[in-house]
Amino acid sequence: MNGIIIAPSLLAANFSCLGSEVQRIEQAGADWLHLDVMDGLFVPNITFGPPIISALRPLTKLFFDVHLMIEKPERYLDEFVRAGADMVTMHIEAIEQEAVSPALQKIREAGKQAALSVKPNTPIEKIFPWLDELDMVLVMTVEPGFGGQSFMTPMLSKVKALREELSRRALQNGVLIQVDGGIAQATIQSAKEAGADCFVAGSAVFGAQDAREAIEELRQNSN
Ligand code: DX5
Ligand code: ZN
Repeated sequence: MNGIIIAPSLLAANFSCLGSEVQRIEQAGADWLHLDVMDGLFVPNITFGPPIISALRPLTKLFFDVHLMIEKPERYLDEFVRAGADMVTMHIEAIEQEAVSPALQKIREAGKQAALSVKPNTPIEKIFPWLDELDMVLVMTVEPGFGGQSFMTPMLSKVKALREELSRRALQNGVLIQVDGGIAQATIQSAKEAGADCFVAGSAVFGAQDAREAIEELRQNSN
């Protein structure tokens, strides 16, 4: 293992049997479980919320990486923490500037990790004011809302710029860089080279014939 984190996205699982899907992916060697929460407002799709997450929580030891694609995510932080989130990611486009620090603080005071994310059209510099308060930055490599889209290569320059900024501030070991969207065997290496260390993969893992093989290959191909 080379220290990267593979986070299969539940969005690509079989929704009629989420419990066994989560256990299948845990046994296949996933590092984290990525949970995509959508409200039909911030993104044009609706998925699931805290009740599903808390129902899954007792079934697995996987780290729950909760990606909130909802407007004003600060309204629901308590619920997601209580449901079992280990990491809570909010979109910078979904929250008022003055609400960001208090929200990050709330997550961390609950003993959980906090992250901010940028959509493809948002410059990475938008989240720089909060870098010291973050455990992770999620750089979207597709337009959020749906699985199975193509990886947007131009997003790699944002990953590079972020990696440089973290080095400049000597934060390179403290803040993870996550990429999400279109991560597959053919794209993971370029994202790793650009500086990402945490990889969300929906279709590439849940959609594979053999999830264990897919995860192992992703690790190999990232090198
Ligand atoms: C998209 C979600 C992603 C999605 C990735 O809005 O944030 O997590 O599940 O799916 P793939 O890996 O299939 O692009
Ligand atoms: Zn996601």
